[in-house]
Amino acid sequence: MPEKQIVDYFNEPKQYEKSEREFWLDPYISKQLLKAHLDQTNDGASRKLSVINRSVDWLNEVVPVAEFKRVIDLSCGPGLYPERLAKKKYDVTAIDFSKNSIDYARSAAEEQGLTIDYRCESYLSWKEQEQYDLALLIYCDYGALSPEDRKLLFENIYTSLKRGGKLILDVFSLQKLTNFQSENSWTLHDSDGFWSTGKHVVVTRNKKYDHGVTLEQTILLKEDDTIMNFNIWHQYFDLQKITSELEEASFEIVTYYADVCGNKYTEQSETICVIAEKKR
Ligand SMILES: C[S@@+](CC[C@H](N)C(=O)[O-])C[C@H]1O[C@@H](n2cnc3c(N)ncnc32)[C@H](O)[C@@H]1O
Repeated sequence: MPEKQIVDYFNEPKQYEKSEREFWLDPYISKQLLKAHLDQTNDGASRKLSVINRSVDWLNEVVPVAEFKRVIDLSCGPGLYPERLAKKKYDVTAIDFSKNSIDYARSAAEEQGLTIDYRCESYLSWKEQEQYDLALLIYCDYGALSPEDRKLLFENIYTSLKRGGKLILDVFSLQKLTNFQSENSWTLHDSDGFWSTGKHVVVTRNKKYDHGVTLEQTILLKEDDTIMNFNIWHQYFDLQKITSELEEASFEIVTYYADVCGNKYTEQSETICVIAEKKR
């Protein structure tokens, strides 16, 4: 294959084209992401703890520990939900493919004397059969996957649940998409920043694609002349689309909310939280 030229990085990606690198797994960026998960001044990688506390209280009401003891948290990040669920006596397994986040989560659990089964792996290769009463997929991670990966993830979750088990997930709504601004921009950073150490240029392409899909692309030009590209895709949903993807995976919808705190869903809600059940 001919070597990739600088200008090739600026070609517009085809819908769902993967970048050579995975944003969450880059050694430098994953450290910045861990800081973002824990940062209480914004909702960057995880929601603020005040919201997470409310979510876990609500989960404890709608899927009480007496009936939904065995929980799997998919894409658990640094373990903010698993810790709180374990404190409410759920028996928690939690998966994330970021070693940095899982290492942090394991040591935080140990410090607090909590027993949580943390696993550093991708939920796309994870396979278990009828182990869990409840699966969680929180903070709109589902919409960041391609249609093929979404299908695979729902199959994996369905197989892992016991009959009567529930899946609770949230996705960004079409209302959220209306706030998305398409734009191209670049910024010169003189020193260490979110994307890189040292002097670097960050080129950003935010673009709306067809059928409720967006791209947030970052092309990073570093001082040593290396170039990196990160494509972050997102699918936005209405009730019909998320319902049909869940039903295709054999789930039955139990109910919808605006968010994982149990607020009422309206057409103005920026997220949709769904509770679905494996009935058969
Ligand atoms: C937006 S964060 C949400 C983290 C957590 N659910 C929370 O709300 O605090 C998305 C997480 O998904 C993880 N992730 C992305 N793709 C994954 C995959 N294929 N397998 C496992 N984890 C994945 C990332 O490492 C990151 O921790």
